[in-house]
Order: sequence, then C-alpha cells, then structure tokens
Amino acid sequence: MRTVLRILLTFVFVLTAQSEALFAQIGWAKSYQNAVVVTAEKHASKVGKKILQQGGNAVDAAVAVQFALAVTEPRAGNIGGGGFMVLHMADGGTTSLDFRERAPQKATKDMFIKDGEYQPDLSRRSALASGVPGVVDGMIKALERYGNLPLETVMAPAIKLAREGYPLTWLQAQDLNDKAEQFEKYHSSKKYFTKKDGSPYQEGDLFVQKDLANTLDRISRMGRDGFYSGVTADRIINTMDELGGIISYSDLKNYESKWRDPVTTTIKGFNLHIMPPPSSGSIAIAQMLTMLEDYNLKELGYNSAEYVHLVTEVMRRAFADRAHFLGDPDFVNIPQLELLTEKYNQQRMESFNWNKASSSDSISHGDPLQYQESKETTHFSIVDKNGNAVGVTTTLNGSFGNKIAVDGAGFLLNNEMDDFTAQPGEPNMFGLIQGKANAVAPKKRMLSSMSPTIVTKNDTTRMVLGAAGGPRIITATFHNFLNMTVFGMEPQAANSAPRFHHQWMPDKLYYEEFGLSPDTREKLKEWGHTLSATGGVGRAHTIYIDDNGLKYGSPDPRGDGTAEGY
Ligand code: DON
Repeated sequence: MRTVLRILLTFVFVLTAQSEALFAQIGWAKSYQNAVVVTAEKHASKVGKKILQQGGNAVDAAVAVQFALAVTEPRAGNIGGGGFMVLHMADGGTTSLDFRERAPQKATKDMFIKDGEYQPDLSRRSALASGVPGVVDGMIKALERYGNLPLETVMAPAIKLAREGYPLTWLQAQDLNDKAEQFEKYHSSKKYFTKKDGSPYQEGDLFVQKDLANTLDRISRMGRDGFYSGVTADRIINTMDELGGIISYSDLKNYESKWRDPVTTTIKGFNLHIMPPPSSGSIAIAQMLTMLEDYNLKELGYNSAEYVHLVTEVMRRAFADRAHFLGDPDFVNIPQLELLTEKYNQQRMESFNWNKASSSDSISHGDPLQYQESKETTHFSIVDKNGNAVGVTTTLNGSFGNKIAVDGAGFLLNNEMDDFTAQPGEPNMFGLIQGKANAVAPKKRMLSSMSPTIVTKNDTTRMVLGAAGGPRIITATFHNFLNMTVFGMEPQAANSAPRFHHQWMPDKLYYEEFGLSPDTREKLKEWGHTLSATGGVGRAHTIYIDDNGLKYGSPDPRGDGTAEGY
C-alpha cells in the first residue's frame, strides 16, 4: 500500500508541477497579498478584480462576476436560473442567500408524468422545465445588504461585454457548436446562439449579445423591476405562451430570494459554513465528515484502496439519506439536527465492513429520529482585502439550461425542474433517484447539490470551497477539504488530485481514469465495488488563505477557469 501511496502522491505533485507550466498563461496557482477572485471564465475573473480595485468589497465583486458570467459563460452563468451564496464578513457575520428557482404556481406533482410514464423530455427540454429565475432578485438583495457600490457600477462591465462582445475561446465556440442543433429548434435561441450564415463558431469570433445588453441595462437602471416586471417580464411570458410554459406574471412578481443560516460543522478545528437546504451539500458533507471522524485517514493513505473503500461507503450512506430526507425546508420537515448527530452517523457506519462493499439496495436511508434532542454549473470564490469572503454557485442546470432563449431579452431559461423528483424511482439527469420530500409543488424549491462553503478558523476565513458538477459537487468539495486538511496538500495540488464519487444510486464507484492505480482498482472490485471510469468529478474554484494571510486562488484543471488578484 505504501508504494501505491508514494506513486500516487508523486503523481499528484508531478501533475501539479506540469499543470502549472502548462496553464501558467491563464493564471494558475497564484497567490496574492490583498484580494483574490477565482471563476470559471477569464473575463469574469478580471471583472471581479476590477470591481475590488475600484473600492468594491467581495459582495460587490460577486454581483459583478455573476452578471459577467451571464454574458461570458452562457452555458451556466445566467440571469435565467438560480443559485446560492455563502458569505463570511470580516466582522465575523456568516450567512447565506438562497436564490434558487421556485416551481411556478401552476406546477403539479405529476406534471412530468403522462399515462403513468415519466417524460424526461418535459422536465429537461421544454418550457415546462423552467423554474422561476432567482438570480436577479438574489444579486440585488445581496448588494443592498452588504455592497458598497451602486448596482449600475457593478453591472457596467457585464453590459459592456454583452454590447461590445468578446472573442470566443476554442472551448466556448465548441460548447455553442455542440448544442447548435438544439438551438435551431427555437427561433430566439437560433438567433442568439448560432451564426447567421450557419457556419460553426471559431475561436476568436467576436460574440456580441445586444438584446442581453439591453436586458442587463434595464436591470441596472430599474433593479428588480427591470426583470420581474415591465418589458423583460413581458418577454418571458411571451416565450412561455408560445412554447407551452407555465411561469406567470404573478410567479415573477412574487419571486423572493431568502437569507438562511448556513449549516456549520466543526472538524479538526475548522468551522465549515455550508449552504443549508434546499442545498443537500451541507448535510451530506457534514454527515460524511462525521462518519469519518473515528478513522485515521492519513494512516490509510491518500487514494489507497482502503481509503477509497471507506470514503465510498460514507458517500453511499450520505447520499441514501439525501434521497430520502432532503427537500425544500419551507415545505418538508428535515430532521437536520438528528441527521448531524455523532450517534446517528456512527450507527450508519455500523454496517461498514473493511472487506466488502455494502449494496445500495440494502443500505437505504437510516432512522435519525431515534436520536432526537440533504455540464452545467459554475462556482466562484472571492476574498477581498478586508477579509470578507463570498462563495457563489449558480446554474441553469443542464448546459445552456433548456436551450430556450427569451426572445427579445437575449438570455436562456433554466431546466431546474428536473432537479425535483419527477417520479419516485426514476433517475433525473444526474442519475439521482430521489424521494417524496423533493416532489414538485407550487412555489417549492427543488433540492440542489450546489454546496458553496466557507471554512473559518477563529472567525477568520481560511478556505472558500465549491464546485460545478451536479451531485459530484458534494464529493468534489468534500475531497478538497480532506486533501488540504488531512493530507496537507497545497491548494492547487488538492484541486488537481484525482477524485472519486459514489451517490448511492446507481450503485457505482465513479473514478477519474488516471486516479486509481490498477492494483487499487483490483482490490476494490474484489471487495464488491462496481467501478466506472469517468471524465471528471466536479470543477472546483477554490481559495485558500495561509497562516500569514496570503491568498491562493486555485482554478480547477478540469475547466478553463482563472484566478485574478492583487
Ligand atoms: O442544483 C443542482 O444540484 C444541479 N442543478 C446542478 C447542476 C450542475 O451542477 C450541472 N453541472 N455541472
């Protein structure tokens, strides 16, 4: 096992060293004295830095970045979707903002079932797939409570990028070309996201979005009313009427983002403040860390067969609980305190066997009440010079959402309704089997895996964590924390290290192809795991702050994000 461990660690460090050389031109693994911004897209990272240098704080920069990503990363950055923000202010205050989409008032439990059969096309690729967007309300609320700068100032860079355009990278051009056939189905999407002459986008093409610039301009002048009423609302409703959607004027008018207390868990002297439900990440990560508390992970060795086996079994149990207990806390009673108790999590591990994988059929969910006393998203992390920290994860759900652009307004709608349990027993887009707690209901928020997390020690921010990747967000965030705290990896090594993922159902251990050595894979198979190689487990954009206050921005090598700072 020692040899395997040595090979793997060498691999991680070699990979990191090579990657730094390879990616240095886009700003890898940099550290800064004052402030740092890490996002999935280079223009957005630059916008964040510019706002910070103009005297904005981390919240001003986060709002500016969110709107910039709506322009420069249209597959995930958005104003037609939703997300979560976790904040830790330098004065010690920690909170979170839930700007997740809500189901329209006309939504029903069985809206995606026809003749007893689940219709994935409806929950993923139709106008019915859209929840009521929350981003605009969320950004304005965050700015009003914590920002220093006016909305017009923080939105100006996004408006400029949309109006004047920006040159597409190879990857951005590819992403748009990949979805061209689906954009062609809607005249608005075809107009905005394919080329007039029908040829594919090329690297370097200037991507201009005039209608989106006008929509952003309305929001920057009129605030909420620039989106949830007036011209933009008219255009959303016209799109709904044309394509059979059910979002109404009253849904838009009544949408409200919500401040919520993060879930806080303490491990190894670090306090993790994680987005609470309707994010499932908080409870899942806290449960996994609690289940692992009695084990000496370092002794097992990073990514040794024993380590992968143990951590997989922990993931299996946490995801089984996620499926059964978690949903929108405004609609269902989540036994949160009980799920997080040491006793419950120890009991969940009683069935763990060092020599044999559990079967997901037999694991199911536990009974916490006996101890009475949950390609395409984008995560960004920002810390300003005063130590205010913000982590935001936002999404349209699928890449470019439901591919339906609002005609005349230039932005895409989400297909977040697919995150609800459309029919118990039927997997959603990410293969998640979910329960009744996450059934569709009017105004309800669909359960999410997005897990922005701020880690503090003695009330000072030490890490901002989070990722994209559906349910793999939870495991990627969890791996990064363990890699830095248990295995002492420096932040870029932690982010580059190979990851694995198990989500209870399907009963598969997904591993990044280069991440497990052949003998480790053999052992895991012998113990009964079903292994499945996978392209990438999440894309995490991490900040780490060392004992001297030096801020490390670490983009994920699995994407093309960048860090900017000063
Ligand atoms: O909220 C969720 O859990 C999903 N809608 C996230 C989707 C996602 O991360 C897509 N991929 N990168």
